[in-house]
Amino acid sequence: MTQPHSIRYPLRIKDVLTAKAPGDDVEVCGWVRSRRDGKGFSFFDIGDGSCFSGIQAVVPSTLGNYAAELVHAGTGTSVRIRGTLVESPGQGQKYEIAAAEVRVYGMAPPDYPLQKKAHSFEYLREITHLRPRTNAIGAVARLRSSLSHAVHTFFGERGFLYVHTPIITASDAEGAGEMFRVSTLDPENPPRTSDGRVDYSRDFFGRQASLTVSGQLEGEAYAMAMGRVYTFGPTFRAENSNTARHLAEFWMIEPEAAFFRLRDDMDLAEDFIHSLCAHALEHNTDDLEFFNKRVSPVLISNLESAAGQEFERVSYTEAVKLLSKSGENFQYPVSWGMDLQSEHERCLTERIFKRPVIVYDYPKEIKAFYMRQNDDGKTVGAMDILVPGIGELVGGSEREDRVDALSARMKERGLDEAKYEWYLDLRKYGGAPHAGFGLGFERLLLFVTGMQNIRDVIPFPRYPGNAGF
Ligand code: 4AD
Ligand code: MG
Repeated sequence: MTQPHSIRYPLRIKDVLTAKAPGDDVEVCGWVRSRRDGKGFSFFDIGDGSCFSGIQAVVPSTLGNYAAELVHAGTGTSVRIRGTLVESPGQGQKYEIAAAEVRVYGMAPPDYPLQKKAHSFEYLREITHLRPRTNAIGAVARLRSSLSHAVHTFFGERGFLYVHTPIITASDAEGAGEMFRVSTLDPENPPRTSDGRVDYSRDFFGRQASLTVSGQLEGEAYAMAMGRVYTFGPTFRAENSNTARHLAEFWMIEPEAAFFRLRDDMDLAEDFIHSLCAHALEHNTDDLEFFNKRVSPVLISNLESAAGQEFERVSYTEAVKLLSKSGENFQYPVSWGMDLQSEHERCLTERIFKRPVIVYDYPKEIKAFYMRQNDDGKTVGAMDILVPGIGELVGGSEREDRVDALSARMKERGLDEAKYEWYLDLRKYGGAPHAGFGLGFERLLLFVTGMQNIRDVIPFPRYPGNAGF
């Protein structure tokens, strides 16, 4: 995009590589990735986060600050380099900068924790504040941003309204009791009721409040007015799952659409995933090539199939049959009625179908209270999307829109109906069929980058025992 002439931000390496030609005067700012000293000059490899590639600057020893400053500028030093863009005789880069001036903003001493060598992701998690300067975490950051924009474009183009649902809530949207409490009461000495319990009526909100586990219920209220909506925000789960697929704070995209049945919901979710994979392939080529080379050699071909190939669709009952006769030796034996474990999900998508799979019509006992009961009395109109390498990427359902059925279901689950009165109102007053789903943004990033641990695809991960930085 060209800038109006009165506005001049500093150029970035991406702009230099795409919009400048040899002979142009250029100036770039960034951080030294490496410095190599030759006879009469040094090579500085500079990165600035704008794209995967850095740019090399050839810095002559004739510069005034060369001996005193530049030969001590180690990896991590921040600089501004002015010079001329020239064709590079070196391998692996088209252009380089023949530097005429190098200004150092901040030196990085030799104890800089990111020296030019491969570091393990475990080590990088200990220096979460510095790790975006590495190739891998930098590429993840660009993909996160790029795909966030793609999410809004996808729904915007389809007439879905972006709704901001609350972060602090008094409803347990999943009814699973995995919420973080929000309170300003003195934990050492909380006010108590006459029967000795903590008196939340004297808490900040006058009742117990928590961080949301999902924006769905409030999303439904807006879908019942605006027709098609989506949320995209942080969600919180106090589940003690110490796995490479779970976070205590993660971002979820949740569309909700009036007059959608389960089939429409599956179509929307499939269309959405196709579109996000295609977006990454089109807009983040360099970053994906890096992941393909360094992290997962089948990444790009997997993404191409996820972008173009139809997903398999199979009922839970069918899936259980397939798993039973798969001959696999599962840790948890398969039987109808059980919740599918990660090993089963991965078997379906990786070995049986070898592509993303939508499993639908799950037993009602293992799914949330709000899902619409099917006529068989045993299953609900739920669907999960399973993808290779990850397992569950999407969970969604048609919602129970019949007030009596919903109310009966909540009783069965022991939910306090008084707390959900507003939710029942959505059925009582003009209730209509509707459906939606939630896609875990970090799970999507695992799929798109091939990264193995969910803690490495969110800037500052929160998980049991860790809320650092
Ligand atoms: O299947 P879940 O729990 O469904 C819901 O929250 C529904 N309210 C969604 C809806 O219908 N509007 O979560 C949806 C998705 C999962 O498929 C998974 O991708 C992701 O959210 N997810 C997590 N991601 C990271 N860490 C966790 N602890 C996650 N829990 C769920
Ligand atoms: Mg789920």
